[in-house]
Amino acid sequence: MRIGVFCSGGDAPGMNACTRAVVRAALAAGQEVVGIRRGYQGLLDEDFHRDADGRPLMSARCVSNIIQRGGTILGSSRSDEFRTDAGQQKAAAILKRHEIAALVPIGGDGTFTGAIKLRRFWDGQVIGCPGTIDNDLCGTDYTIGFATAVNTAVEAVDKLRDTAESHERMFLVEVMGRHNGCIAMYTALAAGAECACVPETPTDVAGMVDRLRELKKRGKKSIVIIVSEGDEAGGAIALNDKLVAAGCPFSSRTVTLGHVQRGGSPTPADRILATRLGECAVRAILDGKTGLMAGEIQGRTTLTKLEETIAAHHALPVDLARLVDLMSI
Ligand code: F6P
Repeated sequence: MRIGVFCSGGDAPGMNACTRAVVRAALAAGQEVVGIRRGYQGLLDEDFHRDADGRPLMSARCVSNIIQRGGTILGSSRSDEFRTDAGQQKAAAILKRHEIAALVPIGGDGTFTGAIKLRRFWDGQVIGCPGTIDNDLCGTDYTIGFATAVNTAVEAVDKLRDTAESHERMFLVEVMGRHNGCIAMYTALAAGAECACVPETPTDVAGMVDRLRELKKRGKKSIVIIVSEGDEAGGAIALNDKLVAAGCPFSSRTVTLGHVQRGGSPTPADRILATRLGECAVRAILDGKTGLMAGEIQGRTTLTKLEETIAAHHALPVDLARLVDLMSI
């Protein structure tokens, strides 16, 4: 059987580790692997990774020494052409012509939405792997890349805390997460931030200012607020303006971490998760399964319908917000 593997949407640390796992698990089982470059757009352009002999197939050596590398050796994209019915039909015809019988898309909600649509025109097998820093998919406790993104954000916040403490300042640090606040909440808890503003809960500016006054009275010299880019009060800059207008007692600065969170060498946790899920996806294909995503729940690999992974956003553990608050006194 010929299995296609590709990365799509925003890159995430660990996508390479997952690609490596798919390639090696498939080769070990006597299957062939086509590495599709640049996501769905690369599929439409028939842009395939080539081995040392120039064949459009991946060998075990094609994925040597990539487990530790950030980004994706296959490249990624967000394809407008693939969003159309015509694009999906064209992709289905290309898959048939190249005798690709199964696909492992590595990506997030956009990637899986695309895979669901493609299945209307193509009867091959699809088993996805959750590759996104956002941790917003259902069907897995953590997505590949999330742990590394939080690690990167925490390292940055630790540095900002030094300056905040020296200058008796408040920093509002904006992290990624369009629809959910996982990166913000985990970063806040791990970095000892005083507050996290996330899309899942209303941001009460007046209440925050009261709390900041209280913390100042208690002798706090520095404040760090982590703000999700998707928070309804706006990003760090907009929220800072609102806090200043409402009488914030600290002088403040804003920092947007942005795409720095998407790069870098994956943490061991992400490498291990990526390896387990890539292998799980191949096993599921060999078992004849389709329309599913490989995930890990409470330490066990599991398969969830693609539709269910994107029907809702992964719930933020409520306990984390309470802990951030409790630890900030
Ligand atoms: O989905 C991953 C993500 O990094 C989001 O957190 C962020 O909102 C978005 O991608 C940014 O996308 P782009 O790289 O296209 O600007």
